[in-house]
Amino acid sequence: MHVWRKTADPQALQKSVVVRDSFLPFSPPLIGEDEIAEVVDTLRSDWITTGPKVKRFEQSFAETVGAPDALAVSSCTAALHLSLLALGIGSGDAVITTPLTFCSGVHVIEHVGAQPVLADVEAGTLNLDARAIPAAVERAERDLGLRVKAIMPVHLSGHPCDMDPILAIAAERGLAVIEDAAHSLPASYKGKTIGSLSISARVPVLTSFSFYATKNLTTAEGGMLVAPPALLQEARLWSQHGMSRDAWKRYSADGSWFYEVVRPGFKYNMTDIQAALGLHQLKKLPVFHQRRSEIAYRYNDAFGAIEELETPTRRAWAGHAWHLYVLRLNLEQMAISRDQFIAELHSRNIGTSVHFIPIHLHAFYRDKYGYVPEDFPVANHEYRRMVSLPCSPRMQKQDVEDVIDAVTSVVTKFRRPVKARQFVRAAGR
Ligand SMILES: Cc1ncc(COP(=O)(O)O)c(C=O)c1O
Repeated sequence: MHVWRKTADPQALQKSVVVRDSFLPFSPPLIGEDEIAEVVDTLRSDWITTGPKVKRFEQSFAETVGAPDALAVSSCTAALHLSLLALGIGSGDAVITTPLTFCSGVHVIEHVGAQPVLADVEAGTLNLDARAIPAAVERAERDLGLRVKAIMPVHLSGHPCDMDPILAIAAERGLAVIEDAAHSLPASYKGKTIGSLSISARVPVLTSFSFYATKNLTTAEGGMLVAPPALLQEARLWSQHGMSRDAWKRYSADGSWFYEVVRPGFKYNMTDIQAALGLHQLKKLPVFHQRRSEIAYRYNDAFGAIEELETPTRRAWAGHAWHLYVLRLNLEQMAISRDQFIAELHSRNIGTSVHFIPIHLHAFYRDKYGYVPEDFPVANHEYRRMVSLPCSPRMQKQDVEDVIDAVTSVVTKFRRPVKARQFVRAAGR
């Protein structure tokens, strides 16, 4: 519970603005005594790196998402990289993906020597727009002379992409699908859990999850890959230096010292210390998810009728993980930019974020591929009016109300009179 006080700023005082006493961080982790005890137990055991707890975590995770097996790794970035390696994607190849995502997915495409080819998002969910994929494939193959090998949809905020049309395009063109499910635990598409789509798909589907500190389940850093068995086996090889036996198989009582190196692999393994956290976080996932959903619904109730704000789109078929609550600002109705809006919330002690700066605006990709902001007009436009509000199970009831009060007070303060809105619209601003 937070103590309320009037702000010390005399101007704000005049307007009777109240702010929280303490800063509300955007998304702190929620670690309990169970996790702490399990980590201590691991530290006291003789096995602190990849071993029995990682195995148990992989099995429990696979059961949770309905996948045949899972590979625990050091990050979601590693899982995405391994997906590309397992599929043999490399130089001269292209992967179609979204501009509105975190940089790691496109980075790993670059790492294997392939080219990320971007297709714009749809304005509702902000996810990759399946209707934009055929043109991106054409551009990659005809204009750039590349072989398109895969589509990488990102389930942004935890709202799944519309997978049927994406899978249909993949099947028609013989492409694999590499799902970036960093935000999507637990999420579902038309009743199927994200992580289980490979079972019924006609094309290879590989799915990567993130356990970074802010994620719906955290192991501090970490990730999980689920994929059809042969591809998962290949990814496992790549994840452990390309060695035919992992350390557990070599150093445990029934292990044997001999191994062969069969790939020039990477070191992407998860440790038992991380898995100790993951095992308990996984048990708590339904409770965490319930709390995230409650917060999102409370925000929807509070902001749904405010004209200056747009609440997140949710499709009827979506089981939403609510990793992020992305509010969009109707900027022509306010005398304030998105960045000023964020600063105003910060001055009211509310931490926020923006997910994400589109890939084509980042210096490296802009300069390498000669992008201009309007190349992906939907991503560019939406990015400029997005703000992610705190939405985490660490939040108390009062924290949620503080966010609502702060957002409402900023809107009230900077709302444009109706006449001014018409002028802004006419001037095309
Ligand atoms: C959409 C998306 N993909 C991938 C990642 C990478 O996850 P990790 O930090 O586990 O590598 C993130 C991390 O924030 C993300 O938001």
